[in-house]
Amino acid sequence: MTRDEARNVDGARPVARPARGYRDLHEHLDALRERDLLLTIDRPIDKDAELHPLVRWQFVGGMDEAERKAFLFTNVTDGRGRKYDIPVVVGAIAANRAIYSVGMDAAVENIQAKWDHAIANPVPPRVVTSAVCQEVVLEGDALLGEGNGLDRLPIPISTPGFDSAPTLTATNVVTRDPKTGTQNMGTYRAALKAPDRLVVRMATRVGGAGGYQHYLEHQRRSDKTMPCAIVLGCPPYVAFMGPQKLPIGVDELTVAGGLAGAPINVVRARTVDLLVPAEAEIVIEGLIDTEYLEPEAPFGESHGHVALEEFNMPMRVTAITMRRHPIVPSYISQVAPSESSVIKRVAYEPLFLAHLRDTLGIRGVKRVSLHEPLTGLLRLTVIVLEKGVPRTEVWRALNGAAFFKGDCGKICIAVNEDIHPDNADALFWAMAYRSNPVEDIALVPHRGQGHGPKREHDGEEDSTLLIDATMKGDMPPLALPKQAYMERAQAIWNELGLKPLRPQPPWFGYSLGDWLPAWDAAAERAVAGRYLENGRISESQKRKGIKPETKFRPE
Ligand SMILES: Cc1cc2nc3c(=O)[nH]c(=O)nc-3n(C[C@H](O)[C@H](O)[C@H](O)COP(=O)(O)O)c2cc1C
Repeated sequence: MTRDEARNVDGARPVARPARGYRDLHEHLDALRERDLLLTIDRPIDKDAELHPLVRWQFVGGMDEAERKAFLFTNVTDGRGRKYDIPVVVGAIAANRAIYSVGMDAAVENIQAKWDHAIANPVPPRVVTSAVCQEVVLEGDALLGEGNGLDRLPIPISTPGFDSAPTLTATNVVTRDPKTGTQNMGTYRAALKAPDRLVVRMATRVGGAGGYQHYLEHQRRSDKTMPCAIVLGCPPYVAFMGPQKLPIGVDELTVAGGLAGAPINVVRARTVDLLVPAEAEIVIEGLIDTEYLEPEAPFGESHGHVALEEFNMPMRVTAITMRRHPIVPSYISQVAPSESSVIKRVAYEPLFLAHLRDTLGIRGVKRVSLHEPLTGLLRLTVIVLEKGVPRTEVWRALNGAAFFKGDCGKICIAVNEDIHPDNADALFWAMAYRSNPVEDIALVPHRGQGHGPKREHDGEEDSTLLIDATMKGDMPPLALPKQAYMERAQAIWNELGLKPLRPQPPWFGYSLGDWLPAWDAAAERAVAGRYLENGRISESQKRKGIKPETKFRPE
């Protein structure tokens, strides 16, 4: 087949399919379908006005996280009434933990261990010469004019009513450090501007985009452009790497290989000197302008506010390559919870736990939870510690979590294991009853603004709030019937055919340390109807000359 034929989108090039030890997106969707985690929507859906709002309902419609699914749209139309021959999938990587765990090929409880292992045991990628992501190649004129180039792709609008452009969200953006030659891969949004132009947004703040550091280096060298490849629809192990926060200088593809336990196949892009995942769905190759910036946004952001217009990096597309039958993935982001917050949460929490437990060596840290709804992971961190961890260690954990990453942990709360970090009521309860503000709260100055709606004054500093809401000693039990009684009553509830229960922890009482066997015995006698016996015992313990409410502890 000649190069010209290859440029025709309908005329796919025959390519070899090198062996691999991981699923591509198509196989991942099959795996989701088998587990009833994928909905296929065949009716026409307008990608600009209907697609994201439809999927949004599963995040704001009162459903549990476990009920969410991935949505595959096979009949995509747009605001112009056009039909697309490429399907769109939303939620396929991380609508919930169950979906993420299919992509990770690991049970939810083993995801932490899998991340830990992959980061410690990276596997370099394998360069192949023939790749499905280059079955179809669009170059030259095929990138120009309405209906061609980017305009051929069904890219949805994420926040209809606010966003000014269809925007790529499920990206793995590849750039190379011109100094070291190491590649970086980050998930950055990119707004469509023309069939051969889009504008990429790489965060410039401390802890922001690795690709931005490459951009700065190109500027230092007076390069007018920076080569870039925006990859859509990576194998899940690779997709997970886009949002993951690894130290600058680590090639994410090596850690993806660590997740897969096998090298990731990569192929040389056709028009830029970059290696891209061979089994990707679509690769948009191009050159980022390092001189001019172009206004981009409004766009609904993951911090829960709409990002207003700002200057970002225009990229001229030099080629679009794709599979013969590609699927366009799109992440639903904006207000958390969302696919964006799940994909980040499941990736970041293991990093925080490993930092406190392994790097700082704080014993007794059980979990680090990045609060998700509305706050979007970045602002509120909950550290779960065993009861009895020394106070100084609690404070090391609070400080360690607050300052591990520049843009996470503005408010950090330490609690004990009986407090479920996702239950805001339980957090308030712990703060209300287990902390003394003058002793257990610290304010620390000098925090960067982080990811959020822009402040009025650029550069204005934020600060940090640390709260020790752990128990400072033994406390009386939680005042609910013990588990066995609640379960016995639950059986009756079910037998009566009442509305199915959705137990909300805490739903039974448990000891918090301040409790005696004698009180257990009294409670058992009471339940057995023998309270008169308890009355005889307490009468024998009468005392005089003391004030009411004086404490009594039986022998
Ligand atoms: C859906 C989604 C969209 C994101 N959009 C951006 C973005 O536009 N710009 C950005 O710098 N980071 C964005 N992020 C966060 C980065 O992916 C994240 O900070 C990651 O660590 C960047 O990789 P890097 O450190 O290799 O640059 C986004 C994350 C997700 C999940």
